[in-house]
This record gives sequence, structure tokens and C-alpha cells, in this order.
Amino acid sequence: MNPILLDFPHEFETERLLIRCPLPGDGAMVNEAIRESHDEFKKWDAYFVNLPPVEESEERARRAHAKFLLREDLRLYMFQKSSGRFVGSTGLHRINWDVGRFEINYWIRTSESGQGLVTEAVHGIVRWASDHLNARRIEIRCDARNLRSRKVAERAGFHLEAVLRQDEPDVDGQPSDSPIYVKLRLPNGEWGYPS
Ligand SMILES: CC(C)(COP(=O)(O)OP(=O)(O)OC[C@H]1O[C@@H](n2cnc3c(N)ncnc32)[C@H](O)[C@@H]1OP(=O)(O)O)[C@@H](O)C(=O)NCCC(=O)NCCS
Repeated sequence: MNPILLDFPHEFETERLLIRCPLPGDGAMVNEAIRESHDEFKKWDAYFVNLPPVEESEERARRAHAKFLLREDLRLYMFQKSSGRFVGSTGLHRINWDVGRFEINYWIRTSESGQGLVTEAVHGIVRWASDHLNARRIEIRCDARNLRSRKVAERAGFHLEAVLRQDEPDVDGQPSDSPIYVKLRLPNGEWGYPS
């Protein structure tokens, strides 16, 4: 299977969200959301410790667009359907097309958190990946101390498969543990985790 030849929709909707591939020109709105959310993001992601300039956010949006077309990495931006407002970033990463393995990550701008939008996006991404990408295994990984992130995985019905000890550097460069939450596509087409 050659993933670059795989045709699938580059945007889809959930109840409250429009979710789509990054596009050239998105950088300024993403940068504004990062600035608003700096206090929260810098705790969990070394990339956000220093605020990026707008040009860097634009460059990253353009690179993400290119990688999306190449099927190397599928970043997705989330927008509130009612207002068109950009609310955050998510996507499918660490892709292994041969076995249908993907990893979801996410952040939401601070002013839009606490409404269940990320959990809603995760449900939508699992459906999209199931319908169009031949997904069979979807993971969510985070820092073990990031309880809000873990709660998204648990609320969305992912199963805690393992905790990798001293797996990734945290924002201070110290080794931190990584829980791996998983959903598998079952033979009947449903998603779950058989015991
Ligand atoms: C992790 C993160 C994405 C979670 O965002 P969030 O807004 O808490 O997640 P959700 O959108 O699923 O919202 C859940 C909250 O909304 C509430 N909520 C309100 N309406 C809801 C609804 N209709 N459905 C579900 N939850 C709802 C829930 O009770 C929950 O609140 P609680 O945490 O006080 O219990 C966010 O904290 C973040 O961006 N953090 C910084 C970046 C980061 O850590 N990313 C993860 C790296 S792995």
C-alpha cells in the first residue's frame, strides 16, 4: 500500500467542530492561540517554553500542509463551527501505514478548554481514521503527570495498555514516564480493547 495514493477527505465535522488539514496562511491564528495559552503549554511541551514568532508558526503550518499531502504526518486544526474560531491543534502522528497504527496528540487554546471539545475531536478523529485510513490501532501518549491529558484519553474510552518508565525528556530535560492509552479496531468493526 502506497499511502501517497490514498484519497481521503482533508476535513470533517463533529457536533461542534470543523476539523481540517493545516493550510498556508494559518500561522497567525495559531500563533495567537499559543500566546494566549503559554502558561499552560510551557508546563508540558518543550517547544512552547519560548514563544515562537509568527513566521515560525506560519512555516510550521506550511510544513504540516506538505507532510499531510505526502501522508507522512496528519496534523489537524480544530475550529468552532458556530463562530469559525480556531480552537486548537490535534492530528495523527507516528504513522505506520502497514499496520494502521497512529498516535493522536492535542492542545486546545486556554479560553476554549473545559467544554469537552478535545474529547469530541478525539471521537471524530477515530471515526475518520476508521472510515478512511484503514486504522487498526490508535494511541494517546503523554507525560504521566499531565492529568488533564490523561483524562481526555480515559473520557474517550482508551485503555491504559502500559506505562513506559523514563521514556521521554520533560520540559526540564528530566526523564518522565509515558502512559500509553490505546484503542484497537475489533473484528466486528467496533473500537475497544479486548481483555
Ligand atoms: C490536555 C488538554 C488538551 C485537555 O483539554 P480539556 O479542555 O480539559 O479537554 P476536553 O475538551 O476533553 O474537556 C474536558 C473538560 O470539559 C468538561 N466538559 C464540559 N462539557 C463537556 C462535554 N460536553 N463533554 C465532555 N466534557 C465536558 C469536562 O468535565 C472536563 O472538565 P474537567 O477537566 O474539569 O473535569 C488541555 O489541557 C491542553 O491543551 N493542555 C496543554 C497542552 C497539553 O498538555 N497537551 C497534551 C500533550 S500530550
